[in-house]
Amino acid sequence: MTQVGEVPARPQTKPQRNEPCWCGSGKKYKKCHLKEDESKQDFAPFQRAKIKRSKEFIQGMEATCKLAKATLDMVAENIRVGITTDRINTWVHDYTLDHGAIPATLNYKGYPKSTCTSLNEVICHGIPGETVLKEGDIINVDITCNLNGYFGDTSRTFLMGECSDDAKKICSVAEVCLEKGIAAVRPYGRIGDIGAAIQEYAHSMNCSVVEKFVGHGIGQAFHEEPQVPHFGKKGTGPIIVPGMYFTIEPMINLGTKDLIILDDDWTAVTKDGKLSAQFEHTIFITESGVKVMTK
Ligand code: MF3
Ligand code: CO
Ligand code: CO
Repeated sequence: MTQVGEVPARPQTKPQRNEPCWCGSGKKYKKCHLKEDESKQDFAPFQRAKIKRSKEFIQGMEATCKLAKATLDMVAENIRVGITTDRINTWVHDYTLDHGAIPATLNYKGYPKSTCTSLNEVICHGIPGETVLKEGDIINVDITCNLNGYFGDTSRTFLMGECSDDAKKICSVAEVCLEKGIAAVRPYGRIGDIGAAIQEYAHSMNCSVVEKFVGHGIGQAFHEEPQVPHFGKKGTGPIIVPGMYFTIEPMINLGTKDLIILDDDWTAVTKDGKLSAQFEHTIFITESGVKVMTK
């Protein structure tokens, strides 16, 4: 029985079309809430919804994510004190083309370079240029390649030589945040589970989580649904279903989560000038769990 003011709960299984509607209207389900239910993300688990991916699609994602990881490994082997961030850009650009792919960031919404190099207080979208890396810097290099129309996206933050305890701490916290985020992913769980796990750890370490930029679905487009916030509440948000590909890419700050975008319209820096670090993987949701594609 539904009391006045009480909202009837959606059933746990999908009702038959000709059954009376669960809302108590007395109408048949098909004439009442069927359409609305089917349009709701919340209805997906009743249907055990999943996204069908062709073999071709799955292989396309495997290959592009493998290349993105290999590109980042190449950067890891060569990055050092004394080089410019533009040199990193050249490495990434050439390596990507040499492997038959296109750097996805180049000319993306007007972005001028083939990678993002985000130094110290830069949160993300740092544009490679004449800045020379020096001892004690931390720098995130973010790689996105487009191989045969499929996108793979991954990033790491590198410590340059001997670094401060603060620098080591923020890199470690950001890396663990990514691990905790991935560990929170369950098929038929919620996107909010990821942010909740990340936020809990970041805050326990007295760090903040950037809210302005989020992870994203990825596939034959660079950025697509769902949005993947690195903060939030367990049990909320879109349902995670098998067949989804998305990134998790927490940006973690030593001080405030607030940011400023510089005049180049890209570079996001912490408002208080304190350090920020980020790690990113592209992941794939399977029926039984999660596969990290860029590991
Ligand atoms: N690779 C970034 C991400 O993780 C996006 C960079 S877009 C750019 O989503 F235009 F700034 F390069
Ligand atoms: Co991304
Ligand atoms: Co990225």
